[in-house]
Amino acid sequence: MSTRLKIAIQKSGRLQEDSLKILKDCGISIDNGKDQLKAQARNFPLEVLYLRNSDIPEYVQDGVADIAIVGENVVIEKQKEVKVLQTLGFSKCRLKLAIPKDEEYTGLSYFNGKKIATSYPNSLCAFLKENNLDSEIHIISGSVEIAPNIGLSDGICDLVSSGSTLFKNGLKEVEQILSSEACLVSNKDISDEKQELLDNLLFRMKSVLAAKNNKYLLLNAPNDKIEAINNILPGMKSPTVMPLMQEGWSSIHTVIKDKDFWEVIDQLKANGAEGILTIPIGKMIL
Ligand code: PRP
Repeated sequence: MSTRLKIAIQKSGRLQEDSLKILKDCGISIDNGKDQLKAQARNFPLEVLYLRNSDIPEYVQDGVADIAIVGENVVIEKQKEVKVLQTLGFSKCRLKLAIPKDEEYTGLSYFNGKKIATSYPNSLCAFLKENNLDSEIHIISGSVEIAPNIGLSDGICDLVSSGSTLFKNGLKEVEQILSSEACLVSNKDISDEKQELLDNLLFRMKSVLAAKNNKYLLLNAPNDKIEAINNILPGMKSPTVMPLMQEGWSSIHTVIKDKDFWEVIDQLKANGAEGILTIPIGKMIL
């Protein structure tokens, strides 16, 4: 049988949909049966294993899966030997310490002698040690936010994304332990044949991510402002400049980082730019 790369993704949970989406954006179609725990890609030598989030780092370490899409938070917590190859820009969250909102927070020493409920004992333990804090860790596997309300703990250490779960449970964030997003990880010892497939997949993912972070920008400008506008635009190389029908005007095309767009817009307008448009990019080969 020809070589296939085995990728683990979340069986259920927040990362699953975006994990399948990035594979799809990479041109990989997966035949997905309902409740199937294993699936094959139709047009790429890839087998998808749907696994429990918290088991994924161990499966990758042991080579059951060659690669996986998993949260950095899980990689850090599980302390398994895997290689982080690429962050993927979705499922961003923070691991936070939180306490009841009416409590007065007096700084890190607040946690000395306090009981903290968490599903992230290793990350919490490392943080407490680093800050010379002496707290009691109470490990629970889910619904951590309820712990202070039912007298199980004084505070919690859990993931926060929108903050709505904390809010609903009358808690406030007071310290950040780490920030996280989805990432692609691999086993440390991949065969040459699989490495070739992985390089291909990684190349596709990087192109998809670059396209997401950039926009194609078009604008019209008076010819005597082209130089000034070129200096403002942090484009890929130099912009394309094409004459307009209207005498003395040109159309300027370039690629711009999405996050830079709002920073340069005022300068572009001040230099006479008109008809400014941005267009999403499908794929961007770097
Ligand atoms: C996570 C986390 C919090 C919640 C925070 O749970 O454990 O409970 O999300 O998100 P918010 O700030 O947007 O409210 P999730 O629902 O992912 O499931 P989990 O219990 O398996 O971690």
